[in-house]
Amino acid sequence: MQKLDTLLQEFKEELKIIQKIPDLLNLKAKYLGKQGPLSDVMKNLKDASVEEKKMIGAKANDIKTQIESLVAETMSTIELHEMNEALSKNKIDISLTDSVLEKGLQAAGLHPVTQIQQEIEDIFVSMGFEVLDGPHIEDDYHNFEALNIPATHPARDMQDTFWFADKKHLLRTHTSTIQVRGMKSRKPPFRFVGPGKVFRCERTDASHEMVFHQLEGMMVGENVSIGNLIYFMKTLLTEIFKKEVEVRLRPGFFPFVEPGFELDIKCLICGGKGCSVCKQVGWVELLPCGMVHPNVLKAGGIDPEKYNGFAFGLGLDRLVMMRYGIDDIRHLHSGDLRFNLQFKSY
Ligand code: FA5
Repeated sequence: MQKLDTLLQEFKEELKIIQKIPDLLNLKAKYLGKQGPLSDVMKNLKDASVEEKKMIGAKANDIKTQIESLVAETMSTIELHEMNEALSKNKIDISLTDSVLEKGLQAAGLHPVTQIQQEIEDIFVSMGFEVLDGPHIEDDYHNFEALNIPATHPARDMQDTFWFADKKHLLRTHTSTIQVRGMKSRKPPFRFVGPGKVFRCERTDASHEMVFHQLEGMMVGENVSIGNLIYFMKTLLTEIFKKEVEVRLRPGFFPFVEPGFELDIKCLICGGKGCSVCKQVGWVELLPCGMVHPNVLKAGGIDPEKYNGFAFGLGLDRLVMMRYGIDDIRHLHSGDLRFNLQFKSY
């Protein structure tokens, strides 16, 4: 019993000079580990009487609990101390003194993706479209099911989609989710665009990011045609590039449109000769589009016998790249001021 009392005293003495977590863990192991004094006492219990075993066992447990709680307490104190020390060393200046604002708006401005997004919104608003928003965190229904994307579609694969642990929620992989919400909340005829961030579990390269931006568009009415679709897409591109750009329309498969198209733009980085952005093809995939699939209209509560429509999903980051001749998408969100400063919006 006496040995146990001394043991606790000795532990407390040693604890006084501990200042780092690894030292604390070593001290804990020294006293509570298999080779430690407490284990020694327990091992020797076999020679004691039943009464003695009871008393010594209870005391040893009590001492073990005391040591454990002293270790936990000291651990919190050290962690708090280390955090305060780190904070005082890495002070963040949250005042506006010496900031970009004081330097005459030198670095302030809207990001080129935001600028192009706002421009496109204006173009579509001038053509009678509404601008809608939608959540980044979506469910399987809005991202896939309501868009006629069957469970077997590769887009649902873990490789492409950031799923939440519940396997029910995800970070939206496209802005087509806004179509679903837009259809459900209005009656035809209607037309709207829905811009925003989208997320895909991709390996990044010169033209692929994991977080990028799309702008969805949808028009539903009684006699909407592919002619209407082509008219709006051409108007958009002429307004954005302020010149005639070469485009090509080719068949494209998306479960939510039928027929579906890919509208490609001749690569403005290399003029069509082939580079890393267009993957040596000379064309950049920019604007997938098509006539809304009847199943999608139905899921949106719209009668496909009476109404039809078109939809498109524009990649905003790639549009910015084409407009300014940026040869790598990763510059866009690098946060490098030397890059950002070239796109002042003031
Ligand atoms: C879609 O996301 C469809 N929801 C678009 C759509 C809407 C089709 C309505 C038909 C009707 P896609 O996966 O191809 O399609 O992406 C659309 C655009 O986003 C591409 O043309 C491209 O410009 C851009 N994009 C796709 N993946 C990336 C990426 N990893 N990084 C940057 N931009 C990308």
